[in-house]
Amino acid sequence: MYKNPTSKYWCKGLPSSEALEGIFEKFLQGGRILSNREVLRHDYIPKELPHRRIEIDRLARMLAPSLHLSKISNVIIYGKPGTGKTAVTRHVLDSLEKKANELGAKIRPSYINCRLSGTNYRVLAEICRSLDIQVPFTGLAVGELFDRFRNGIRKRKFCPLIVLDEIDTLVKNRQENNLLYELTRINESLRGGWVAIVGVSNDLRFKDFLDARVLSCLGEEEVIFKPYLADELYDIIQTRTRIAFIEGSLKESAIRLCAAIAAGEHGDARRALDLIRVAGELAERNGDTEVTESHIRAAQNKVEHDRVTEVLTSLPLHLKIVLISVFLFTNHSKNEAVTGDIYAIYQELSKEIKVDSLTQRRVSGLISELDMMGILNARLVNFGRYGRTKKVHLGFPQQAILDALSEDGLLKPLFHYVPHSIRRANLSR
Ligand SMILES: Nc1ncnc2c1ncn2[C@@H]1O[C@H](COP(=O)(O)OP(=O)(O)OP(=O)(O)O)[C@@H](O)[C@H]1O
Ligand SMILES: [Mg+2]
Repeated sequence: MYKNPTSKYWCKGLPSSEALEGIFEKFLQGGRILSNREVLRHDYIPKELPHRRIEIDRLARMLAPSLHLSKISNVIIYGKPGTGKTAVTRHVLDSLEKKANELGAKIRPSYINCRLSGTNYRVLAEICRSLDIQVPFTGLAVGELFDRFRNGIRKRKFCPLIVLDEIDTLVKNRQENNLLYELTRINESLRGGWVAIVGVSNDLRFKDFLDARVLSCLGEEEVIFKPYLADELYDIIQTRTRIAFIEGSLKESAIRLCAAIAAGEHGDARRALDLIRVAGELAERNGDTEVTESHIRAAQNKVEHDRVTEVLTSLPLHLKIVLISVFLFTNHSKNEAVTGDIYAIYQELSKEIKVDSLTQRRVSGLISELDMMGILNARLVNFGRYGRTKKVHLGFPQQAILDALSEDGLLKPLFHYVPHSIRRANLSR
């Protein structure tokens, strides 16, 4: 039905088959840019890790005595996002495992990402499974799971070396350190054997969340990963793109720009690799034969847009409603929003989509949470004897919020809602 342009059903918005043919031809005539996308994926473990020699050496030296089955210190690894903590830890752990297998040493390295695993139960169940200790996915009490873990280690007589990546999520989400407490104390009840823990975190305030007893045990050694400098990022991009890009398809000035942008954003190698990958994809899509600075600039906009969308779409429902409340206030009023204004709109919106609204105190807490994430800017102001309140602004452009949240069928109608509380306030002015 769509093929005949003269048909009354012809849809004007669709490109003709000639136009499509043109798109494919242009793509085929234009050179290919990326030869191996896999190498730029986040979970790819590179064989070379430039500018992390000192950290690799340090960590390897800390873990090496475990090959003689000597108890090693627990370690905490800190550093901002994208500074190579996961890549380095996995690299060292893989080599250690290989060496242990060669020697027949009874250490068992195991790697768990706490954010991906989720709950305390699932983290512990994954640790057990990685050590071949059979446990069900759900159903046991954490205490019972822990007993099986302890008995499993005793029976098998090996020494687990457990890496808990993104360990901060374990503590912050649950406001309790039980699992970490039990794990760090387990050696007291394991005669002969031991468990060593390497915790990895990109939150430098992570220690503040820890129970003092856990901290003294977990933080016996520390390794800090500094942000990468622009020249270091340049080398990192080069080692990765040498495999990922077709030779001669990447301008040197494009790599320099990419390194400079990522260095400006807390020296994040993930950011640099994302930029270069997206720039390559954009160039390919245009049928261009070379990635230039303009592709990097375009990639920067796209990556930023995608990042904002990801952050906003993954917010819990009530945070989204609070954010839309500030959005509507900004849209319909010339005044600065204070907590009370936002709460009034929040209540209306919750009713509109039939969810129970939270108390004003809780909503004020949610505003602070959004402020900490940079999604809102909240400033505390003093009204003398009338008390204190927060003045609140959007931290992201309105369009970005609209693009991200209006995809959600439940929330979309809220963007067209005109709050009664604002109508009343505007009338009374
Ligand atoms: N020195 C390096 N050489 C090559 N690639 C690197 C290097 N450092 C980091 N990378 C790459 O950059 C990306 C981010 O690194 P990684 O995941 O190790 O960061 P991280 O410090 O664990 O970040 P987060 O705190 O967000 O988990 C990965 O793709 C990784 O392979
Ligand atoms: Mg990591």
